[in-house]
Amino acid sequence: MSADLIAKLLSPHLKSLQPYESARRLFKGGKASEQAWMNANESPFTNDYSLDCDTLNRYPDCQPPAVISAYAAYSGVTPEQTLVSRGADEGIELLIRAFCEAGQDSVLICPPTYGMYAISAKTFNVGVEQAPLKADFSLDIDAISQYVGKVNVVFICSPNNPTGTDVGKAQLQQVLELFADSALVVVDEAYIEFTQQQSWAAELASYPNLVILRTLSKAFALAGIRCGFTLAAPEIIQELLKVIAPYPLAEPVIQIAVQALSDEGVKRTQSQVTLLNQQKHWLQQQLGEMPAITLVGDTAANFVLMRLDDKQALMDYLVANGILIRDQSKQLNLANCLRISIGSEQQNLRLLNAIQQFYAQKG
Ligand SMILES: Cc1ncc(COP(=O)(O)O)c(C=O)c1O
Repeated sequence: MSADLIAKLLSPHLKSLQPYESARRLFKGGKASEQAWMNANESPFTNDYSLDCDTLNRYPDCQPPAVISAYAAYSGVTPEQTLVSRGADEGIELLIRAFCEAGQDSVLICPPTYGMYAISAKTFNVGVEQAPLKADFSLDIDAISQYVGKVNVVFICSPNNPTGTDVGKAQLQQVLELFADSALVVVDEAYIEFTQQQSWAAELASYPNLVILRTLSKAFALAGIRCGFTLAAPEIIQELLKVIAPYPLAEPVIQIAVQALSDEGVKRTQSQVTLLNQQKHWLQQQLGEMPAITLVGDTAANFVLMRLDDKQALMDYLVANGILIRDQSKQLNLANCLRISIGSEQQNLRLLNAIQQFYAQKG
């Protein structure tokens, strides 16, 4: 097909769209055993699962009851309040598709934040309004309140990626009340297991416009299976079921998710989270002692954000040494910032040694 014909047929709203620069797209391939992947907030742990092949000839359930009931029990909600999808990313997409009219409606985001809210909206020709976070990365309630009646979905990430900050309970309550009659307020809790902050799951009954996003990609160390959850009022879940694919989860994904959500699986996750949080505080302390580095935001999730003058030179040095971290400097108010996902003890040490060597060589 000629480039001219593609250009003629392509939806106009996609012409200038840049795809999401996922960590894996930026550094394709490479052997996990050789490189220290510390750029996608994945878990460094690998856990074993068994696979029963007897049902692989059959299409799976759209919403496998075993996965739904296990996740509902884990998060303290009912199965009717639970939807499972191909990662939390698909949850974001379903919310936009179900609740925004293309070419007409908008969502609200609070940057710097997770990039997929905006990309997902743009792929469906839905507008993206912005109420940037304040200098201390708290919500700017005055700015947010300007959008009441002008947006259909508000995305709030807590703990926020990439600032690592929790959104205060009182602030979120204000947002939920501001939009009570006009928009869904989606609280993205992809990193909830790493923070001391309570989940909003217990508040679903109190706020009918509250939606919560969760994932098995982070604390559960299962980014590779693509499994996420949307928790909301049953009426909202029913609408999302109208737009979800008939078979969003592959059978092996279902089997692995059920094992991960067993009592034993949840206990293992909790002990891995404890270890990662210990490593995070150690790395935070070590980096904090380096004069060239300023820690930015907080560490409520599984990563550390830092600012340094020579961020490009350090990035290049780390890549040359097989250590991949994430450049966040294009994000609003995050000039010269790099984000480090907490790796294994060995990877964290390797990273710290490399940073120390980089500064030692500079003299
Ligand atoms: C805040 C946030 N939400 C959602 C996701 C996507 O999660 P999933 O892997 O379940 O699609 C990520 C992934 O990095 C994230 O950082």
